[in-house]
Amino acid sequence: MEDRERMSRLVSLLRRRGLVLPSFEIYGGVSGLVDYGPVGASIKRRVVDAWIGHWGSITNVVEIDSPTITPEPVLVASGHVGEFNDKMSECISCGGAFRSDHLVAEFHEAPDTLSSSELDDLIEREGVRCPSCDAFDWKKPMPMNLMFQTSIGAMGGSRTAFLRPETAQGMFMLFPALYRHFRQKLPFGAMQTGRGYRNEISPRQGMIRLREFNMAELEYFIDPDDPPIDDLSKWPDRVCMIPDPDGPHPGEFEMSFKEAFESGIVKHPTVAWFLAMTMEFLEFVGIDRAKVRFRQHAGSEMAHYASDCWDCELMGEHGWVEVVGIANRTCHDLESHEEHSKSSLLRAWRTYEKPVKEKSEVIKPVGSVIGPTFRERAGEVSSALSKLQATPSTFPFELELPDGTIVHIGEDMVNIAVEDSIVSGEYFTPHVIEPAFGIDRIIWHILDHNYMEVDKEGEGYTILSLKPEIAPFDLVVLPLFDKDGMDKMARDILTRINSLRGIIAEIDTSRSIGRRYARADEIGIPWAVTIDHQSLEDNTVTVRRRDDQRQVRTDLDGLIGGLKSGSLSSMF
Ligand code: GLY
Repeated sequence: MEDRERMSRLVSLLRRRGLVLPSFEIYGGVSGLVDYGPVGASIKRRVVDAWIGHWGSITNVVEIDSPTITPEPVLVASGHVGEFNDKMSECISCGGAFRSDHLVAEFHEAPDTLSSSELDDLIEREGVRCPSCDAFDWKKPMPMNLMFQTSIGAMGGSRTAFLRPETAQGMFMLFPALYRHFRQKLPFGAMQTGRGYRNEISPRQGMIRLREFNMAELEYFIDPDDPPIDDLSKWPDRVCMIPDPDGPHPGEFEMSFKEAFESGIVKHPTVAWFLAMTMEFLEFVGIDRAKVRFRQHAGSEMAHYASDCWDCELMGEHGWVEVVGIANRTCHDLESHEEHSKSSLLRAWRTYEKPVKEKSEVIKPVGSVIGPTFRERAGEVSSALSKLQATPSTFPFELELPDGTIVHIGEDMVNIAVEDSIVSGEYFTPHVIEPAFGIDRIIWHILDHNYMEVDKEGEGYTILSLKPEIAPFDLVVLPLFDKDGMDKMARDILTRINSLRGIIAEIDTSRSIGRRYARADEIGIPWAVTIDHQSLEDNTVTVRRRDDQRQVRTDLDGLIGGLKSGSLSSMF
């Protein structure tokens, strides 16, 4: 649980060294908004790149990039306009607004599942006081939609829009393009990283609850009758699994993903596969496996779009925190977008193993009535009638032509015949499995899990033991003195290193060499290259390893060769 002192030392390091800082601080700051500074932005980019690389290793997954401004109808269909709410309690005395479930957190196991009136009763019964002014004078809890509203265009012609609450809708909007891209063949996935926005009522937990945050989401479109699965024995290590306490497997289990799937604890094979892939990614970026658990949502906790959801939670200074949600969104989004947009492009085709014979009702336009009734549009009406998927049950009925015109079709205009036909397949709405990652929360936990306070010769010493793959810089170049030719040699080496693709080095010429090593260790740079007097004579440098502070001497070609080969470890 929270160790306030360690946490405040970590937060202070993040600010001091330019990793993560409160935004707009010279104007007093805004809670729920943070900046990644000159060191943090590089870490963030590398974590995002690692995420893209990880899921991109699935050969049928592609990246897309959508607008963050989203027209209202999209989010009506997705359910976010109606259902993306938190309950808010307002203090009548000071006007402070708080999440009602947070106010009663110590009195209920799952306060976010309570209705407004249940929250009201609990606040009343427990005499919960205002965290700001200590008054006991509350308005009744009210649902507050979490989206930031805006408008597209000006004045009378403007349309309501929202800043996206999730990147996922971009993938659903592009389903027709993705289906074409993958040559009409499921399964396939689309992933997207970028900003999401939630107008949190009273965010208080630093990087954990942000109003503008970095998301990374993958929507994997599958045929629900043929769900894909990978070989789970590739991930034999055990992990903590906590199924829904109200389901058939209450309890907490240490098990492999294969065991979890085979025992029925994780029911959906693709969900099991994505749980394993999630664990692999988290370890790759430096999360401590001992501080990971997967927890299944109880029915009352589930997002409006999900039929099953597993959270990946990490333990850190804020306790257990959800950082990834792996949800089975079924056909919720595509089906709802089909209904709201009337698009016919949100389905996939499934070919039967064997064609089947079916009797089906077909509509035959009666030309002698349609012709005189609709004249020059008679052809369009007949064609629209033959494309109807279902026969009408009442007459007259409305028929929409391709340009949106509605015409009325009477009983005398059509014959309904029953015909034998051979059917080779059917259209259906694909299901979607979604791993959704909160990048900022993951970065917080990477920093937390790798923040080491060690004793060095009786003094406290800090090392951020980041994986080299996500360190802000691959190495730092340190001239022992910023003069006497060491300065020039250091800059020449820096230029040479930075010309190597994908390698980022920085130079530090400030203060004593000891302090510079300490700064490099604090921001997690895995290697330091020092140029000293001997370097000027024999073109050698020392390479220092952050994690054990050992040093070796090498010539410049050895250094560059080591960097090109991907690691300097082989020198030690
Ligand atoms: N798309 C998942 C989420 O919004 O959390």
